[in-house]
Amino acid sequence: MVEGLIRALIAADLPAVLALEAKAHACPWTPGNFQDALNSAYYMVVLEQGEHIAGYGIVQVILDEGHLLNITIDPALHGRGLGRYLLQHLIAYAQSHTDTLFLEVRPSNSRAIALYQTAGFNEIGLRRNYYPARDGGREDALLMAMAF
Ligand SMILES: CC(C)(COP(=O)(O)OP(=O)(O)OC[C@H]1O[C@@H](n2cnc3c(N)ncnc32)[C@H](O)[C@@H]1OP(=O)(O)O)[C@@H](O)C(=O)NCCC(=O)NCCS
Repeated sequence: MVEGLIRALIAADLPAVLALEAKAHACPWTPGNFQDALNSAYYMVVLEQGEHIAGYGIVQVILDEGHLLNITIDPALHGRGLGRYLLQHLIAYAQSHTDTLFLEVRPSNSRAIALYQTAGFNEIGLRRNYYPARDGGREDALLMAMAF
């Protein structure tokens, strides 16, 4: 059984969150990105296991649309069900505040795509050259959505 406490992400969590972000993403969010999200009152949570931040998730709500902007689990803890556990929490939040939850994902991120598909997201389009790529180029984004 997956265990962990999901609570609001606060400014004091940023050093730990930024460290995870750098470990987990080829093109990580910057401190400014996280500060903007905090200032914008996005729905931001951390998943704690004991004293340790195991992951975090961020949902932006614009009118009746939710946007899953970030979901990250500590790479050392991948494959233990924590991502699905956190995603279910974020979906439940979006379901009670929006009509549809959207997300973008790199087509190369097969682990995340498998998670999203099995959670009930559908592919609805492609955004060309959406992401910066590690080699300095750009990578498309797969657009996925879940209607409630
Ligand atoms: C995507 C991510 C959040 C998933 O978290 P996780 O804790 O590893 O995922 P879970 O253990 O809950 O597994 C969820 C599903 O992912 C898929 N998955 C897990 N490990 C996988 C692997 N090695 N290969 C392919 N798919 C895999 C499976 O569908 C799995 O469901 P199942 O175990 O019921 O079959 C995590 O890999 C992560 O933080 N990645 C880096 C950041 C990132 O890419 N975020 C998403 C950006 S859009």
